[in-house]
Amino acid sequence: MHFSQILFSLVAVVATSAAAQNSSNVFDFPEYPPPLTPPPNQTIADGIAPLPQNETNQDPALAQAKIHFDTGRFGPAIELVHAFFNFWPTGVAVSSDGSVFTCFPRGNETFTLAKLNSSTTEAPFPNEDANTPPSFVNQSSPAFSIATDKLIFVQSVVVDGQDRVWALDTGRPRINGSMLLAATPGGPKLVGYDLNGTTITTITFPDSVVASDSSLNDVRFDLRGDGFAYITDSSMQRPGIVVVNLKTGESWRHLDGHPSVVPEAGFVPFHNGIPTYLHPPTPPNAITFFNRFAVDGIALSDDGEFLYYAPLAGRRLWRVPTSVLKVQPSSTNPDATVLAQQAVQNMGDTGSHVDGLETDDQGFIYVSAPEHNAINRFNPKTGRIEPFVRDPAIQWPDTLAVVSLKSGGNFLYFTANQLWLSPDYQNGTDLRTKPYAMFRVPIEGGIASQT
Ligand SMILES: *[C@@H]1O[C@H](CO)[C@@H](O)[C@H](O)[C@H]1NC(C)=O
Ligand SMILES: *[C@@H]1O[C@H](CO)[C@@H](O)[C@H](O)[C@H]1NC(C)=O
Ligand SMILES: *[C@@H]1O[C@H](CO)[C@@H](O)[C@H](O)[C@H]1NC(C)=O
Ligand SMILES: *[C@@H]1O[C@H](CO)[C@@H](O)[C@H](O)[C@H]1NC(C)=O
Ligand SMILES: *[C@@H]1O[C@H](CO)[C@@H](O)[C@H](O)[C@H]1NC(C)=O
Ligand SMILES: *[C@@H]1O[C@H](CO)[C@@H](O)[C@H](O)[C@H]1NC(C)=O
Ligand SMILES: *[C@@H]1O[C@H](CO)[C@@H](O)[C@H](O)[C@H]1NC(C)=O
Ligand SMILES: *[C@@H]1O[C@H](CO)[C@@H](O)[C@H](O)[C@H]1NC(C)=O
Ligand SMILES: *[C@@H]1O[C@H](CO)[C@@H](O)[C@H](O)[C@H]1NC(C)=O
Repeated sequence: MHFSQILFSLVAVVATSAAAQNSSNVFDFPEYPPPLTPPPNQTIADGIAPLPQNETNQDPALAQAKIHFDTGRFGPAIELVHAFFNFWPTGVAVSSDGSVFTCFPRGNETFTLAKLNSSTTEAPFPNEDANTPPSFVNQSSPAFSIATDKLIFVQSVVVDGQDRVWALDTGRPRINGSMLLAATPGGPKLVGYDLNGTTITTITFPDSVVASDSSLNDVRFDLRGDGFAYITDSSMQRPGIVVVNLKTGESWRHLDGHPSVVPEAGFVPFHNGIPTYLHPPTPPNAITFFNRFAVDGIALSDDGEFLYYAPLAGRRLWRVPTSVLKVQPSSTNPDATVLAQQAVQNMGDTGSHVDGLETDDQGFIYVSAPEHNAINRFNPKTGRIEPFVRDPAIQWPDTLAVVSLKSGGNFLYFTANQLWLSPDYQNGTDLRTKPYAMFRVPIEGGIASQT
């Protein structure tokens, strides 16, 4: 049993003992509870109960004292929808017919893009062949990956407002413990599929937009007008936002190196109460701050006016008007770069570092909070972040996806993948425990139309 399991069972013991006793709710956020939240006597944030016997001394008066404690929970009940016993997942995307897609960052994994085919298994999507490049390594330049139309390392999968499946391939597989550089152009790509797996389009990038040391991380779509995709480049060397015109296939960069896209210096996140440093197994085996990860999570506002984003190493949410991002810097638009950098808005503190972001059609921006085993949401109308859902089983909420199912119901799906327990943070030891999880919670809003 390692730290996280010990902590998990302590929380579970306290929470269970409180629920079994006459606990009461003292949670008093003005926004709480959000709509659809079960009665507070079922999911409570704070409790008051006599402590377990071994946490009091022999004084019977103390054994009766009701002590305020943190249950580790608030918001709607989470529902486990998938357990990953095979590969380690990052992304999740759900179509209106309830098909669920996921992706696996690739080391020796045999496929990188998948569709769930039972509650505990995943099948390659669109098929095995598309997931099988001839090789990963470019033989003539061995530090580089190859350029290929096959999927190399899908970091994100998204279903857009028209039920099309998009895979974002960073083109940089992990070999022998480190990431190869990407062959560009041709390795990193954005591939669109129909739900039946037919390829609609493949967009590659010039190496002036996606360089070999770029690290494409997550993507969101705006289907208004020509249609645009916005991609985070979380590379330490060149953090920024990549903008793609879906009609022309042209792409360009914005916000390169802006303070809002770079890691916060000296950042140390806490997971289950324990500080996490970067401690990779590769030489020089030195412990460093958790500062390797630039802009990561991304979400488009419901009305398409703002792009929200957050660096993984930092506790702050940012946004920028899409009107400035849509302008391609060029000799005809020489001011575009400067104007975009000046338009960035600081949306405030998130209390946790942030991985996935997601939007619903009511204007909320859901914000993952790995430091709190929670997903909160930013309300642009009030400018404040609100509590949404928290549970001890939300062990690193990685990627979020809102869906309105044809069969009824609006849900927020998310993966919980224990990322900080992987070898890069734990001196080469893999402390993650299978299965990794996918959950969903009901929400009142639906999928943003993007049109
Ligand atoms: C819980 O405690 C309160 C106050 O001590 C009491 O009024 C109430 O009846 C109790 N409820 C249950 C279900 O025991
Ligand atoms: C919780 O409270 C609701 C009313 O808010 C009540 O209908 C329900 O029976 C209560 N459940 C439990 C388990 O006490
Ligand atoms: C307290 O007692 C419970 C039940 O006997 C046990 O499961 C738990 O491990 C104990 N906790 C500590 C901190 O000793
Ligand atoms: C694949 O990689 C994982 C994690 O690094 C390792 O546990 C596993 O043994 C590897 N499998 C093969 C076939 O190399
Ligand atoms: C799911 O897909 C895997 C991989 O293709 C396959 O081995 C398995 O039989 C499939 N399971 C179901 C229930 O279809
Ligand atoms: C390998 O890299 C060379 C440049 O070093 C490039 O010309 C060639 O196209 C690459 N091969 C593949 C299969 O990507
Ligand atoms: C990975 O390690 C193997 C075994 O040491 C070696 O043969 C291979 O060249 C390495 N691959 C790369 C891309 O470094
Ligand atoms: C796949 O779906 C698309 C969109 O619904 C449709 O146009 C196409 O004919 C389908 N292809 C196959 C092979 O079923
Ligand atoms: C990290 O692992 C290396 C190699 O196993 C070991 O020598 C070293 O003591 C470990 N460092 C820490 C801080 O655990």
